[in-house]
Amino acid sequence: MNILGIIGYPIGHSLSPLMHNTAIKHLGLDYIYLPFEVKKEDIALAVGGVKGLGIKGINVTIPYKETVIPYLDGMDESAGLIGAVNTIKLEGDKLKGYNTDGMGFLQSIKIDAQEDVKGKKVILFGAGGAARAIAIQIALEGAEEIIIANRTIEKGEKLTEYINKKLKAQSSKLKAQSSKLKAQIEYFRKADIIVNTTSVGMKSSDTPLFPYNYISDRHLICDIVYRPLETDLLREASKRGAKILNGLGMLIYQGSLSFKIWTGYEMPVEVVRKTLMEELKS
Ligand code: ATR
Repeated sequence: MNILGIIGYPIGHSLSPLMHNTAIKHLGLDYIYLPFEVKKEDIALAVGGVKGLGIKGINVTIPYKETVIPYLDGMDESAGLIGAVNTIKLEGDKLKGYNTDGMGFLQSIKIDAQEDVKGKKVILFGAGGAARAIAIQIALEGAEEIIIANRTIEKGEKLTEYINKKLKAQSSKLKAQSSKLKAQIEYFRKADIIVNTTSVGMKSSDTPLFPYNYISDRHLICDIVYRPLETDLLREASKRGAKILNGLGMLIYQGSLSFKIWTGYEMPVEVVRKTLMEELKS
C-alpha cells in the first residue's frame, strides 16, 4: 500500500482526500490518500516524516505552501517561479516540490471554458498565494497584460513587482500593473478575462469586489471559489451575457496534475468531477 496525503491547517474541509481516493478506487490502484492536520511548530517534522516514513507524495495547502520550501531537496521550474509548493514527491530519497495551482487554473480555462489566455488582457483580483500562482502561469502562457487589483494596494504592488522581476526574461510583452479598485472602469472596457482569487463570494453577505454593471458579454469571468459553485459574481456575470468559470475545474486539474506526478496515471477527471459536484451540492 502506497501512502499519499495532504498537510495543512485546518484540513477538515479539504476535498482533496475525496478527489484522490475516488480516482484511486476507480483505477484500482494500491494507494490511499490521507489528510494530516499539522501545527505550525511541527512542519519540519511533518515534511521530514514524508521521507522518513516513505510516503510517496503529499499536497501542501494553506498556510504552508511557502513554509515547506526550506525542507525540500529541490523544486521544479514553476514552483521556483511561483515561490510556493502545493505538491511534494518523494523521488528516491529526495523530496521534490512542484506547484500545480497555476497550471490547474490554465487547464480549466482551456478545457472547461474553451478559452486561451494568449494575447489577452486580464484583471486579477487579490494578491495572495493563489493570485501569484495564477498570474505567473498566465504570464508564461502569453497573456498580454495583467492588472492586479487588490484591496490593499501595497500588497498588489508588491505582487506586481515580484511578477515583473521573475518574468523579465520570459515575457517582454507582459505588463503587470497594480490598480486601485475604484479606477477600474476603463480597464474593464478593455479586459477579456477577469479572475477572482480572493475568498469574496464564499459568504452571501460579502460585499462585491467591483460594480457588476462593469461586466459585459466580452468578458470571461472566473472565480476560484467553488463553495458555493455559483457565486454572486458568476450569477451576475451570466445575467450580463459573460462566459463564466467556477473554481471546481482549477481544484480538479491541480489535483490531476499532482496525481500524475505521484502515480504516473491520468486522473479520471469526469468521474472525480461528478463525485465532487455531488459532495458540494449536499
Ligand atoms: P491565498 O493564499 O489563498 O490566495 P491570502 O493570502 O489570504 O489567500 O489572499 C487573499 C487575498 O484576497 C488577499 O489579496 C486579500 O486582500 P488584502 O491583501 O487586502 O488582504 C484578498 N481579500 C480577502 N478578502 C477580501 C475582501 N473581503 N475584499 C477584497 N479582497 C479580499
